[in-house]
Amino acid sequence: MDPEITQQNPALTDSPTQVLSPTQSIDKTDAVIKLNEVKKIYKTQSVSVEALRGINLSISTSEFIAIMGASGSGKSTLMHIMGCLDIPTFGSYILAGQDVSGLNEIELAAVRNRQIGFVFQAFNLLPGLTAAKNVELPLMYGGVSPKERHQRALESLEAVNMGNRAFHKPGELSGGQQQRIAIARALVTQPAIILADEPTGNLDSLSTNEILDIFIQLNNQGRTVVLITHENEVAAIAKRVVHLKDGLIISDELVSK
Ligand SMILES: Nc1ncnc2c1ncn2[C@@H]1O[C@H](COP(=O)(O)OP(=O)(O)OP(=O)(O)O)[C@@H](O)[C@H]1O
Ligand SMILES: [Mg+2]
Repeated sequence: MDPEITQQNPALTDSPTQVLSPTQSIDKTDAVIKLNEVKKIYKTQSVSVEALRGINLSISTSEFIAIMGASGSGKSTLMHIMGCLDIPTFGSYILAGQDVSGLNEIELAAVRNRQIGFVFQAFNLLPGLTAAKNVELPLMYGGVSPKERHQRALESLEAVNMGNRAFHKPGELSGGQQQRIAIARALVTQPAIILADEPTGNLDSLSTNEILDIFIQLNNQGRTVVLITHENEVAAIAKRVVHLKDGLIISDELVSK
């Protein structure tokens, strides 16, 4: 079947997954994330590393996509670009209809704060602050009053079942609980897109399942979720799986459940 047709109508696929050749990419007209021929070259004094070598990737609103690939294949680099933490060396990135490829640091920070919620493997919580204060942090940027910040942080903590830990510090919480706080922090600005880089990499299997359930819920609520993982069991909750190798997409599969 013509990939163009099956891409738009996943139900038409007659096999459980649809594997595209490296040169093909699932193209979406309503893409919230659209990368065109994105290359990223890291230059140090002595070497230059081409971490991304021409990425074409379109992700629609409300998709749940897993990014997989060996260590060093470019997953985090790709996430940094998708999350406006960095810009492509070549190529363009259109986020929610806006070309963000050439924005400066300040402009990138503003777009990031408005559109993206991040979750990292190491949680990245500030140890000296309570859970509630950690969750409030992204709101400091937007001129929200202290009272409203606190209220919204509590609501966000409730959403991940951590309302009863609002005044604990990260060191007083389990890894799974810390990650739930980090997810609450990602959600507090109500971003349309959640980017998660190995969010369960430091967790046992029970906590992993709890965190994955939260991502499934977030996607069911209409958020676009991009999840980087090494683990097949984690990728299995996504609806689409992209594999990277040496800075290129080598497969892009729609997974029917
Ligand atoms: N800041 C940097 N400066 C120079 N090279 C870098 C930098 N960040 C990443 N790289 C290189 O770019 C390539 C891709 O790295 P990246 O972190 O994106 O891989 P990854 O797929 O996330 O790997 P892992 O699974 O180990 O997290 C690697 O070869 C890495 O050494
Ligand atoms: Mg990485």
